[in-house]
Amino acid sequence: MRVLVTGGAGYIGSHTLVELLRQGHEVACVDNYSNGAPEALRRVGELVPEGGLEAHEADIRDTEALDRIFDIFRPQAVIHFAGLKAVGESVEKPVEYYDVNVTGTLSLLRAMDRAGCGRIIFSSSATVYGEPVFLPYTEEHPLAPTSVYGHTKRMAEQILTDWAVARTEAR
Ligand SMILES: NC(=O)c1ccc[n+]([C@@H]2O[C@H](COP(=O)([O-])OP(=O)(O)OC[C@H]3O[C@@H](n4cnc5c(N)ncnc54)[C@H](O)[C@@H]3O)[C@@H](O)[C@H]2O)c1
Repeated sequence: MRVLVTGGAGYIGSHTLVELLRQGHEVACVDNYSNGAPEALRRVGELVPEGGLEAHEADIRDTEALDRIFDIFRPQAVIHFAGLKAVGESVEKPVEYYDVNVTGTLSLLRAMDRAGCGRIIFSSSATVYGEPVFLPYTEEHPLAPTSVYGHTKRMAEQILTDWAVARTEAR
């Protein structure tokens, strides 16, 4: 399968690239290197030399850049890691966090719609559940984020849910 990984130069994304390439998938990465580095992609290439990773430097909020990448790579699925992730920083920089995590997700979905790509895995966060009300801290918890970061992830989850419903009903 052709899989586009956003935030592939980051911590989780780079490990995911290795696993996807080892499993024989065609993989492309889009990252603006704000918290990742091309060096991580070079190391992915060293670990899976037969992989042939396609790397694109772009910001996910730049839908036109995403359109070009979708035209070139034609992904069948997207794994969406690109985002800002520090709880404390999110309280200090709410506009930046909403812009990258929410606007960025909307921009990605627009590009997916234009390209007819309907499969996405989203890297959300346990922060969407807020304070634990029972243990273990399972996905049965009520959605009650307590930070800007948690709110951005909760919003992105809702957007993805509504997008998936609309796509299913359109079929
Ligand atoms: N690390 C964790 O424990 C954890 C836990 C739960 C959820 N998550 C989520 O998983 C995802 C990946 O986490 P991580 O720890 O690998 O983070 P990370 O910061 O290492 O990786 C994120 C990558 O996204 C890129 N990025 C950021 N903004 C971008 C933009 N506007 N356009 C393009 N690329 C952009 C960064 O350069 C970076 O390479 C994040 O969305 C995070 O919220 C992480």
